[in-house]
Amino acid sequence: MKAIELRKGIYWVGAIDWDLRNFHGYLTQRGSTYNAYLIIDEKITLIDNVKSYLYDEMIARISDIIDPKKIDILIQNHVEMDHSGGLPKLIELLPQAKLYSNAAGIKGLKLHYKSDWNFEEIKTGDSISIGKRTLSFVTTPMVHWPDNMFTYCPEEEILFSNDAFGQHIASSERLAKELPIGIVLEEAKKYYANIVLPYSKQVQNVLKAAEQMPINMICPSHGVVWTKDDIPLIISLYKDWAYNVSDSHRALVIYDTMWKSTQMMAGAIHETFEKLGIRAKLLNLQTTHISDIMTDIIGAKFIAVGSPTLNSSILPTVAAFIYYLKGLSPKDRIGLAFGSYGWGGQSIPILNQLLGDPKECGFEMMEPIKIQYIPSADDLSALKNNLEQQIQTKLEKK
Ligand code: FEO
Repeated sequence: MKAIELRKGIYWVGAIDWDLRNFHGYLTQRGSTYNAYLIIDEKITLIDNVKSYLYDEMIARISDIIDPKKIDILIQNHVEMDHSGGLPKLIELLPQAKLYSNAAGIKGLKLHYKSDWNFEEIKTGDSISIGKRTLSFVTTPMVHWPDNMFTYCPEEEILFSNDAFGQHIASSERLAKELPIGIVLEEAKKYYANIVLPYSKQVQNVLKAAEQMPINMICPSHGVVWTKDDIPLIISLYKDWAYNVSDSHRALVIYDTMWKSTQMMAGAIHETFEKLGIRAKLLNLQTTHISDIMTDIIGAKFIAVGSPTLNSSILPTVAAFIYYLKGLSPKDRIGLAFGSYGWGGQSIPILNQLLGDPKECGFEMMEPIKIQYIPSADDLSALKNNLEQQIQTKLEKK
C-alpha cells in the first residue's frame, strides 16, 4: 500500500472502501474513502484515521513513509467511527502519543471507547507547533456532530476539513482535478444533502470562519482533495447550499403508485411544470433511492409528493421518504400533495400535513390534488388547469 504525497512531507494515508454501498441509509454507489493525513515534521502528526476494519490498510500506507511507532501526535477532528475506528489499535501502538481534540471530541471518544487516553484538549483559536509548521484549530460544532472541528496549517495553507467538503467516492485518484469534475461535484452535493443539510446554519458560520484563512488545499475526510483551482467553486456551491438557494424554475415530482393512477397524476403534474418552463424531474420511489432524491432537493423550489391511499394511510415507501426528508430539513420550498384514492382518500390530507405542518417539513403548500380511482382525460385536464394556476400564483409572489 502506497502513501500519496500531497505536498512535500504531507501524505494521504487513508483507506479506500471500494465495497461500501450503504452509509447509514445513504446509498454510496461509488464507495468511499476514509482519509487520514500524515505530516512529517519535528513532531510526526496523524490527522484522523479510518474505520476499524481498514486499520491495517492505513498502517501499511504510513509504513510506506515511516515506522508508525514514530508518530508523536494524533489529531481527532471528529468522533464518528469512520474516522476514529482505528484509535484503539493506534493507541496500543503509540501509548506515548498525545491525542488532540476539543472538549466535545474528548467526551465523545471516552463514551465510544471507554478509555481515558492521553488527551490534550484544544479549543477554537488554539494552535500547536509541530516543528516548522503550525496546526491551528477551529471547532465546527454540528457540522454534523457536536465534536467536529477543522485543523488548519497556515504555513501550507491547507485546511483539514473533516466531513465538510467531503464526497463518497472510492478512487485511486486523490485530487478532485484528476476525476471528471461533474462527478465530484455531484457527489459533494449528495454528501451535503444527505449529511450536512440539517446543519446549514452552522455551515454558514463555518464558511465565514474559512473566509479568514488563505486556503490553497482542502483535505476532507471522504473522497478527493480540493486544490487551488477548484476551491472557489466548491466554496461557492457550499454557500448556495448553506443559504438554501433554490431555483423556482426547478421542480421534483416524487411518488409511488399502486395501480398506476397516482403515476398518471404524477405525469400530468410533470407536464404542467414543463409547460410553464419549470424543469421537472419525475421520481418514482420504486426505482429511485431516497438519498438520490435528496440530491435533487438541493436547488429545486417545487416539491410535489404523491401517494395513493393504502389502509387509510400513505404507501410505506412514501412514508420513508417523507420522514427522511423531514430529518434533513430543507427550507423555503413549495410543496404539493397529490394522489389517487378509492373511497377514504386519507393519503392526501396526511401528505399535505406531513409536508406543510411547521412541525413536520414546514413547506409552503399549494392546494392538494386528488382523483378518485382511475383519472379520466377530463380529470387530468382539470388537474393541469388547476395546477397551472396555482404555480403561476406562487411564481408571481416570488
Ligand atoms: Fe465521516 Fe461524520 O463521519
